[in-house]
Amino acid sequence: MEDRVLVVGGGTIGLATGFELVRQGTPVTLFERNDAGRGTSWQAAGMLAPDAEIGFEELSLYGLNRESLRRWPDFARRVEAASGMDVDYRDEGTLIVADDRDSAEALRRLFEFQEEQGLDVDWLTGEEAREIEPFLAPRLTAAIFCPSDHQVDNRRFLEATRTAFEAEGGTLHEQTPVEVVQPDPDAPAVVTADGERVEGGQVLVAAGVWSRDLDGLTPEAQPPVRPVKGQMLQLRRKTPFDLQHVVRGPDAYLAPKSDGRIVMGATSEEMGFDTTVTAGGLYDLLEGGWEVVPGIYDLPVDETWAGLRPASRDHAPLLGRTGAPGVCMATGHYRHGILLTPVTAEEMARLLRTGETSTWLEPFSPRRFSGTQSSNVSP
Ligand code: FAD
Ligand code: GLY
Repeated sequence: MEDRVLVVGGGTIGLATGFELVRQGTPVTLFERNDAGRGTSWQAAGMLAPDAEIGFEELSLYGLNRESLRRWPDFARRVEAASGMDVDYRDEGTLIVADDRDSAEALRRLFEFQEEQGLDVDWLTGEEAREIEPFLAPRLTAAIFCPSDHQVDNRRFLEATRTAFEAEGGTLHEQTPVEVVQPDPDAPAVVTADGERVEGGQVLVAAGVWSRDLDGLTPEAQPPVRPVKGQMLQLRRKTPFDLQHVVRGPDAYLAPKSDGRIVMGATSEEMGFDTTVTAGGLYDLLEGGWEVVPGIYDLPVDETWAGLRPASRDHAPLLGRTGAPGVCMATGHYRHGILLTPVTAEEMARLLRTGETSTWLEPFSPRRFSGTQSSNVSP
């Protein structure tokens, strides 16, 4: 039986899983309809922030996020070694700040929840927070410091992972949309837009928010993902202004990169596949950012954009076998796809190579929504 894995989609998930597979000796052909790495993954902020982004109702997702962060440093080193490129991995931590009485109360509730869950977090006065990050607004009264949260330059990481994938022997077809997936237990195939049929041993659908558009899958096997729009803007650091930590205010976050970019986000909008950048979106971000770090006022704006988060119904990813023979899926990473890259890539590579699933994948089976089978165990 052919052991080649056909990957549909060259975002952080497809590239990193492809890299992990070829590194371990499994041949991979990856199909990307545009340029690899320029989908939602390019639009992200690169925060690796399970502690700051913990959700009150999302403890099983928190466990997966945390595990992925634990794996990030080694994964980044492997990608850097294989590509010869630096991904700007940073570990200064996140400061979550409050700018009025309501947000201070919300911050206190979050802190109590984080402490109940045993997270490594500190409550700071405004003065203590400004000792760590002097450009925070003088009127801020409280902050939570999450020292275990990290960040990466997701754009550098994507370029490095793409290079690493090819350096390890992966085959990358860009400008090659896949239109149809043809399930089969022994020889599943994909059909590209120009009509070429390519057969492999298994297919991995990693087409992000576009994963449900592929023909050939039954409605039960199609992933229930929807786009959640996030508008972003990028400032350029200029002395004397400085920022070292990721700062999250009630209405905006700021993620400083080592090359001087400060990525600010993000709106959260249910607008279908619309990616228009609006005056209102930018206004909200700039106001939200300025309220917590007023020194951004004089910085040049050098880019604006909007990306589409792939959200499932329960906001957790879909990882593992689908109901379609020979077809696996890794999508629906919503707000955490960069963070979840190592655990997704490593566990999906294991499933594709050995047929063995793991306790990490079990709760996130794509079949949990179809009612056909809830686990990732072999049919
Ligand atoms: P993508 O990067 O979209 O990759 C899918 C690829 O598939 C695309 O390149 C696309 O062109 C290709 N494709 C689609 N259809 C086909 C087809 N038919 N044939 C061939 N190729 C196809 N996550 C974090 O962890 N930290 C953050 O700080 C963060 N910030 C974010 C900020 C914003 C504004 C947004 C929008 C998202 C953010 N995210 C963040 C979430 C993260 O970006 C996503 O979860 C992640 O990028 C999803 O990766 P992916 O590989 O599944 O999708
Ligand atoms: N995780 C940040 C965002 O989705 O905007």
